[in-house]
Amino acid sequence: MSAPAAPLVIAIDGPAAAGKGTLARRLAAHLGLPYLDTGLLYRAVGRRVLDAGGDPADAAVATAAALALPPADMDRADLRTPEAALAASAVAAVPGVRAALLEFQRSFGRTRGAVLDGRDIGTVVFPEAQVKFFVTASAEARAKRRWLELQAAGTPLPLAQVEAETRRRDEQDAARATAPMKPAPDAVLLDTTALDAEAAFAAAIAQLRARLAAIPGAAP
Ligand code: C5P
Repeated sequence: MSAPAAPLVIAIDGPAAAGKGTLARRLAAHLGLPYLDTGLLYRAVGRRVLDAGGDPADAAVATAAALALPPADMDRADLRTPEAALAASAVAAVPGVRAALLEFQRSFGRTRGAVLDGRDIGTVVFPEAQVKFFVTASAEARAKRRWLELQAAGTPLPLAQVEAETRRRDEQDAARATAPMKPAPDAVLLDTTALDAEAAFAAAIAQLRARLAAIPGAAP
């Protein structure tokens, strides 16, 4: 008798505004899997530190905030701001913060499977994920998307500022020593520069089918 197939975990990593979240949500809905936006965890920790008047890069302060993070903070309405994004990137470079958030992410996907998006899902959180995507797009295309999102949210910022902040965050995320943003060796690279959400989803589904067909008993 063969061992039961492990629950399906799909890891989606990549830089800011590459289309990870949209793709992850669509894949999760299509496959009937739970979805976790892991960036919200780091944003919520960054927010807590800012609220207390602390420095998000202070390792002791950031780690204490991560260890005490109330789960309800994930639902805060103020996590999507550029300020929260930069604070998230600063706390995310602290090893104690990453360690504090790791088990929550793993237990989220372990039992029923899940789609998770972030920066280190395929490399650190779920290196055993059956399917991994690294979603990218040109820095210009990503900044433009974030700029449009901010406009739609009623909080417009100059495009040059959005682009500078996006680049700064990506550099910080890729350069940190602990769990840097990088593609897992077995990740499928998906460049969405010239793809809309529909085309990115179609490309991901085709790759997903090919991957799962190669794993005995893994088809959902
Ligand atoms: O994905 P999002 O832009 O919301 O992530 C905010 C920040 O949180 C990222 O810039 C990154 O520094 C951090 N992050 C991380 N690892 C993850 C998810 C997010 O380091 N798995």
